[in-house]
Amino acid sequence: MILRPITVALAVASAYGAVAEPIHRRDDLAFQIEKQNKISIQGVLDNIGPKGSKAPGAFPGVIIASPSTENPDYFFTWTRDAGLTMKMLVDEFLHGNLGLRSYIQDYLKAQATLQTVSNPSGALSSGRGLGEPKFYVNETRFNGDWGRPQRDGPALRATALITYAGWLLSTGRKEDAKEAKEKVWAVVQNDLNYVAHYWNETGFDLWEEVRGSSFFTTAVQHRALVEGSALGKRLGFPTANYDSQAPNILCLLQTFWNGKYAVANINTDMQRTGVDANTVLASMATFDPEATCEDTLFQPCSPRALANLKVYVDSFRTIYTINAKSPNSSAVATGRYAEDVYFGGNPWYLTTLAVAEQLYYAIQQWNTINSVSITDVDLPFWKSVYSPAKVGKYGKNSNEFNKLLDAVLDWADAFVEVSHKYMPSSGALAEQYSRENGTALSARDLTWSYAAYVTMRGARLSATSNYPQLPSWGAPSANKVPSVCVASSAPGMYKPAVAAGAPPGSGGCAVLVTFNLNATTYYGENLYLTGNTTDLGNWRLEDALPGTANEYTEERPLWKFEVELPANSTVSYNYLRKQDDDSYLYETQNRTYTVPVCANQGEGGTATVEDAWLGPTGTPSTRLI
Ligand SMILES: *[C@@H]1O[C@H](CO)[C@@H](O)[C@H](O)[C@H]1NC(C)=O
Ligand SMILES: *[C@@H]1O[C@H](CO)[C@@H](O)[C@H](O)[C@H]1NC(C)=O
Ligand SMILES: *[C@@H]1O[C@H](CO)[C@@H](O)[C@H](O)[C@H]1NC(C)=O
Ligand SMILES: *[C@@H]1O[C@H](CO)[C@@H](O)[C@H](O)[C@H]1NC(C)=O
Ligand SMILES: *[C@@H]1O[C@H](CO)[C@@H](O)[C@H](O)[C@H]1NC(C)=O
Ligand SMILES: *[C@@H]1O[C@H](CO)[C@@H](O)[C@H](O)[C@H]1NC(C)=O
Ligand SMILES: *[C@@H]1O[C@H](CO)[C@@H](O)[C@H](O)[C@H]1NC(C)=O
Ligand SMILES: *[C@@H]1O[C@H](CO)[C@@H](O)[C@H](O)[C@H]1NC(C)=O
Repeated sequence: MILRPITVALAVASAYGAVAEPIHRRDDLAFQIEKQNKISIQGVLDNIGPKGSKAPGAFPGVIIASPSTENPDYFFTWTRDAGLTMKMLVDEFLHGNLGLRSYIQDYLKAQATLQTVSNPSGALSSGRGLGEPKFYVNETRFNGDWGRPQRDGPALRATALITYAGWLLSTGRKEDAKEAKEKVWAVVQNDLNYVAHYWNETGFDLWEEVRGSSFFTTAVQHRALVEGSALGKRLGFPTANYDSQAPNILCLLQTFWNGKYAVANINTDMQRTGVDANTVLASMATFDPEATCEDTLFQPCSPRALANLKVYVDSFRTIYTINAKSPNSSAVATGRYAEDVYFGGNPWYLTTLAVAEQLYYAIQQWNTINSVSITDVDLPFWKSVYSPAKVGKYGKNSNEFNKLLDAVLDWADAFVEVSHKYMPSSGALAEQYSRENGTALSARDLTWSYAAYVTMRGARLSATSNYPQLPSWGAPSANKVPSVCVASSAPGMYKPAVAAGAPPGSGGCAVLVTFNLNATTYYGENLYLTGNTTDLGNWRLEDALPGTANEYTEERPLWKFEVELPANSTVSYNYLRKQDDDSYLYETQNRTYTVPVCANQGEGGTATVEDAWLGPTGTPSTRLI
């Protein structure tokens, strides 16, 4: 596939001809970037099974989040992190790194299998299981408590694979077209069906903390349906559900804008400003080199995305010690969001690099559309990168155009320099760096940190040379916002992608069973359900299903358990009381339950079981505090 080169971008570089110093500085930075880029690509490959040197035991194509197994334990594969990483690898593949194809194919096979692994979010047959955030590296379910579901994963996986399918369809080779149609589509279709089905339900955000509607999730879902629909049409598959839902998702996306910035999470009671790297990452993840500076699509060069970027950056100026000496409008270390307390709440490499990456994409877009328009909305951003900036439209051949782009490039580069300043000399990228002194913190060798470096480098090269741009995902024709936003859902079918490597016979029809248990409990006592199948934790205490007491009242001491179970199967189960001193009380008998048969092909339907606790009741421990 031939990516459309951006020859016009050369003009940006040549605009510096008059000033010797910046050119030198930029060459030096470019040199440093190439060096760190090599380390970063290798850092990613080291974290992919089965051969990655830091991913022992990971199955082929499984991308671990980090080799760190304690404090924090990230030795899992996250659907989101893996999807973003794979998109980077596919982009590198398109840019000529042909050795990466086997990684892409292994990933496809691993994802086909993971889609069928039933898990605490659900099973494949209802689609719910696709929202599970993470799995063990041996492709088995993780039963621990977690912020689930997370609905960005399927969209990001689809985007990575759709980009690969675009290449397969461009080679003219029959076997490549067949791989796209039979293997890639089989996996992508489940993910797109999930998005069309569940986009209008809440889930956890990309930081796994807030339950609500996340800007990032909504933005990447819109993109996935738009490009998925285009691919489906090329391959001859039905796309009506994608076409009907994409505009509704875009409509919801508009509602996050509060006049000053995009609020990261809505439909939540989380008390935060909502200023968050979530939105910057969303702008990057939905960048389209052929789009204009569209506010509706929050494109990197759009007034809203630029205004948002300034608000985001400024939120870290005074809170981190390492930023204290930086002048007001200069580049600084940035993190996830100002209220963050995870590992002490520090800057992250991937978020600091994101500021630069958004702006490199913006530079590409201004060069393509041959102008920069400064509006009241983004004037504050412009003033901080170029103080004489004024509202107006500046054409390609004007001096002002060159000055503006020059200033943006310098500003973006300065964020890369900040990240470099706080990288260890080995180039190893952890998750965070200390807000106090800049030393690396939290998970080491974070795959996403490395991937973020590589995408930043590609974005910069395309902004400053004729390095080919990323392929368009169809944004220019997907910007129509319906006049009224509607709540909706288009349920679809989910099938194991057997042709792509899913185990034959997997992914059978499952029924969503609600177990209602009457059990009077004291504050601090918790109830669990356990049983003789994988879905019920195989009688293992640590894998037992936690219950919720949201509807518990004095009149109705109700504990609820929800689990998808294979239709027409029989299970043996019972309930457990976990005392406030972590000991357990057991029921005095085991129960059996036969799940109804499949309601109809695919959709398994629902069932409810009514139970009452049979066994000893608990008493609060009398431990002294
Ligand atoms: C998969 O990995 C987990 C975590 O290491 C382990 O507990 C489990 O036994 C493994 N399962 C299989 C089937 O190997
Ligand atoms: C569902 O869509 C409607 C219409 O856009 C919106 O008002 C509502 O917040 C959405 N809810 C979720 C959870 O996405
Ligand atoms: C920097 O910003 C702070 C807070 O907005 C302001 O109080 C201060 O005067 C500014 N300093 C400079 C040098 O502009
Ligand atoms: C840097 O700060 C972190 C806390 O953010 C602290 O744990 C660490 O010891 C400090 N390192 C040095 C070299 O001062
Ligand atoms: C349900 O299972 C029973 C025995 O396990 C089997 O005889 C029956 O055909 C199954 N019903 C359906 C609808 O699959
Ligand atoms: C679980 O127990 C039920 C009831 O005894 C039995 O029919 C079923 O086969 C068991 N399932 C497994 C996976 O052992
Ligand atoms: C329920 O079944 C499990 C697994 O066979 C067994 O360990 C447990 O003792 C049984 N409980 C009762 C009360 O029979
Ligand atoms: C649970 O409690 C409710 C309210 O007291 C009662 O109506 C219901 O029959 C109970 N369920 C069982 C299985 O005992």
